[in-house]
Parts: sequence; C-alpha cells; structure tokens
Amino acid sequence: MKRSYLFFLFIGLFVIRAPAQEWIVPAENGSKLSPFAFSDSTRMAGAVLYNLNCKSCHGDPGMNNVVKLVPLPPDPASAKMQGNSDGAIFYKAAEGRGTMPSFKNTLTASDTWRIISFIRGFNENYVQEIAKKLAPGASFEQVKLSLVWMQENNIIQVAVSALKDRVRQPVAGAELKLFVKKYFGNLPVGEVQTTDNKGIALFHIPKSLPGDSAGIVRLLAKAVDETAFGEAKADTSMAIGVPVYRPPLNQERALWNVGRKTPFWLLFTYFVCVLAVWGFIFYVMLQLRVLYKSDSINKS
Ligand code: HEC
Repeated sequence: MKRSYLFFLFIGLFVIRAPAQEWIVPAENGSKLSPFAFSDSTRMAGAVLYNLNCKSCHGDPGMNNVVKLVPLPPDPASAKMQGNSDGAIFYKAAEGRGTMPSFKNTLTASDTWRIISFIRGFNENYVQEIAKKLAPGASFEQVKLSLVWMQENNIIQVAVSALKDRVRQPVAGAELKLFVKKYFGNLPVGEVQTTDNKGIALFHIPKSLPGDSAGIVRLLAKAVDETAFGEAKADTSMAIGVPVYRPPLNQERALWNVGRKTPFWLLFTYFVCVLAVWGFIFYVMLQLRVLYKSDSINKS
C-alpha cells in the first residue's frame, strides 16, 4: 500500500517538473489584432513601455542580452518571438507563464499593443493586419457611450453608438462594464451587460449606493473589448447616491495639526512621557553631581 503512494508521488513530481515546452494560445486569442495601425508614434510610446516593463528580462531587442532564466525569455528580435501572431504576443504578455509575469492588470490593452508595435519594429518582413472595424464604415474612434439615469426604477441606461456612413447608429452586442469611481480605484457595479439591438444596456444601481454630501456619484462606463471599441468610455457625475457627509481629512480629529483638535488624553500622555524622560535625565545628572562632589571632598 505504502509503496503505491510513493510511486504516485514520484510520478506526480515528475509530471510537475516536466517543462511545458509548447505555449499554446487559444485560437480566438491568437487571431486578435490591434485596433490601431502601428506607426512611429506607437513604436516610440511602445519603446518607453518596453524599457519599463520588459527590458529587465528580455534585454535590448537584437542584442541578445536577455536574462538567463529557465526557460530563456526570447529576444524580441528573434525568430522565436517574431514567429508569434500579434494576438499570440498579446495573449502571452497578458497571461504570463512561470517566470514570465502576467501583465493584464498592469498594462492596458492599448499599451500592450504599443509594446507589440515596438517589438514588430525589429522585423523587416512584418506587415500589419488591422482589426476589422465594428461595421463597414464605422470606426472604433467614433464609438460613443452615453449614460442616462432612469430614476423610477434606479437603473443606469448606457447607450452605445458609432458612426456608419456618417450617420450615428446603435451598436448591438457590445459588452459593457459600469464602475463607481472611488479615491483608490474603480468599484464595479453589477455584472458585464451586453447592448441590445438598440445599442442599450441596463445596469441596476444598488439602493444604498453612497455618494458625496449631495449624493453625487462619479460613474464610468467602458467597453470590455478594447480591441473592437478602443478606449471608448463615458465618465459622468450624477446625483444617484445616498448623501453621505464625510469630514475632510484635515477637519476634526483626523489630523492633530493644531492643539485645538488634539484630544486631551493624547496631550496628557505626551506630556507625561516627555516629563518622565527629562526627569530621568535630570535625576542621573544630579546623582553624577553628588558622586563628583563626594569624590572631591575625599581628595581634599
Ligand atoms: C521577469 C522577467 C520577464 C519580464 C519582466 C518579461 N518577460 Fe516575457 N518572458 C519571460 C520568460 C522567462 C519567458 C519564457 C517563458 C516560457 O516560455 O515559459 C518569456 C516569454 C515571453 C513571450 C513568449 C515568447 C515565445 O516564446 O513565444 C512573450 C510574447 C513575452 N515574454 C513578452 C513580454 C513582454 C511584452 C513583456 C513586457 C510587457 C515581458 N515579456 C516581460 C520573462 C519576462
């Protein structure tokens, strides 16, 4: 019995240790394309981002000065890296594997595409294929999101439209996210919603959503798929929350920058501590003086 455990443990360790050589990219990810054309300006922005995020391991493209990790991070100019489709580089940079970190929470999709445009600058044979536009004639730069509050049932309606044949038309099937903007990041409201044939998606707002002292909440609506819709978003403030009064950080006791705001117990403890320390120092000095005096008396 014991032996078979050991046997399976051994096999298990071996399977875990075995290096996964092939990095499989799901087909729908591998075929993803950049929503914008690569240009000198995207390459320049990409170079800055590459130096900040990737160079520490992947080195300078074409110089083969990569960090000796296992497996090796390929040089961006190498055939190994350039053999990837644009979507595959995007997927691998977003997901990471082993020592290759995941960048999906660090870099926006657009910044990742800028890095890819920089990497492609080291491949003379590269010809870019650009993502198909939303609909013939519609361009992702002209996607517009607008927010309306339907007070009676506490719903935020997000309408998505894009220009097609110079006419603004609704965009159906767009996945949207709604956030409430906070000091330290965005708080998602509900699940991802998809626009209907009229280009409209509905988000239910919680009844007790806290706002500022006037009940104002800052809302941000975004398309999930940045590849198709670019960075289309709507950013508005609406009085849809419950008014909440929060004293500013420099008011009341939040900061004890002046004596008036200081609680008594704090002042008391502080002065007792300071007096105790000085008192001890004086006591020691006094004792030293007594010693010194008695010494000089003995000598004389
Ligand atoms: C901490 C070191 C490190 C950093 C930083 C890093 N990488 Fe990597 N990268 C690796 C390693 C190691 C591999 C090999 C991983 C493997 O094959 O399992 C790798 C592999 C890759 C691959 C796959 C190449 C192939 O074999 O097809 C891509 C694409 C890639 N990195 C892109 C990037 C990009 C873009 C950045 C910056 C945004 C970046 N990496 C930052 C270490 C790093």
